[in-house]
Amino acid sequence: MRVLDRLEQLYAIGGGPGANRPHPSAAEDEAHVLAAGWMEEAGLEVSVDEAGNLCGRVPGSAPGTGPIWTGSHLDTVPTGGKFDGALGVVAGIEAVAMAGQGTVVAFRGEEVGCVGSRALVASASASELPNAFFELHIEQGPVLEQAGSPLGVVTSIVGYARGELVFEGRAGHAGTTPMEGREDALLTAAAAILRINAAAREIDSAVATVGRVEVEPGGINVIPGHVRISVDARAPDSGRLQRLVDAIGLEPSQLNAPVAMDERCRRALLAEVGQRELPIVELASGAGHDAGILAAAGVPSAMLFVRSLNGGVSHCPEELSSEEDVLLAVEVLTAVVRRLSTSS
Ligand code: HGY
Ligand code: MN
Ligand code: MN
Repeated sequence: MRVLDRLEQLYAIGGGPGANRPHPSAAEDEAHVLAAGWMEEAGLEVSVDEAGNLCGRVPGSAPGTGPIWTGSHLDTVPTGGKFDGALGVVAGIEAVAMAGQGTVVAFRGEEVGCVGSRALVASASASELPNAFFELHIEQGPVLEQAGSPLGVVTSIVGYARGELVFEGRAGHAGTTPMEGREDALLTAAAAILRINAAAREIDSAVATVGRVEVEPGGINVIPGHVRISVDARAPDSGRLQRLVDAIGLEPSQLNAPVAMDERCRRALLAEVGQRELPIVELASGAGHDAGILAAAGVPSAMLFVRSLNGGVSHCPEELSSEEDVLLAVEVLTAVVRRLSTSS
């Protein structure tokens, strides 16, 4: 199956284990070159914007843009999965080519703050933006697998705040400095990490993660004098997100409010899923996506999720969707692009 073959080719870039195409990197660039070739093979007009986003437009679509856009991202987290982002781009090429309408886009830097989609909405005029955006994405969670449903339609995308907390101590000799009176920055950071975890547990459906800890000077025989930790805090609504940010004491460097998906676009997806007598599962996304950036900028957007297997794990090599579910998703995405292209 061409979609899965292409996902394998993308997965092989950057060396294992897992997918390693961070933004910015030669690996992400290599993935864009590969996808551009597939877009040309499909007869699409290929272009790259100032932010490095790659677009393939069906000739004859509305000038400048296809009335309908679909796509996702080709960058990944370190040792990421085969499907996150890449599935939406590869399936999007199939969908617009088969629908004979629209534009497929590969955004840059989704994993590091939706760099490409933010640049697009910041610079494009209203006429240059799509009049609807559909993102096909692996669920990255257990809901569809538990529901026994191959596909799901997203209701809203979680709000998230990201930033760093810094802890200062006093570097010193690990052997000659008594425990009393040490100013160990990593000890202070460790207490904060436990507090962050407790704060998220206090707020319904909130989550908080410390994914990176940088310790200086970093010698095994030196008391840490300076520690920097990353914080990723999320909640389904702005009120809970603010409560979490306040409880953590974070000054976010990135703040994305939760955003609802567009009613008309969601209904188009639901109609196509329903026509195939598939179970209808609607769910919120705990992951952030480029569709959230476009939706927040006023572009009617919706997301189609494909079931994650292996208990819904993602951002790791065990991330998995079945060929059968992917085929169904491509079929539904194609039908929606075709349906909305003719009616828009
Ligand atoms: O972090 C996220 O939610 C997404 O995978 N970038
Ligand atoms: Mn993604
Ligand atoms: Mn991701």
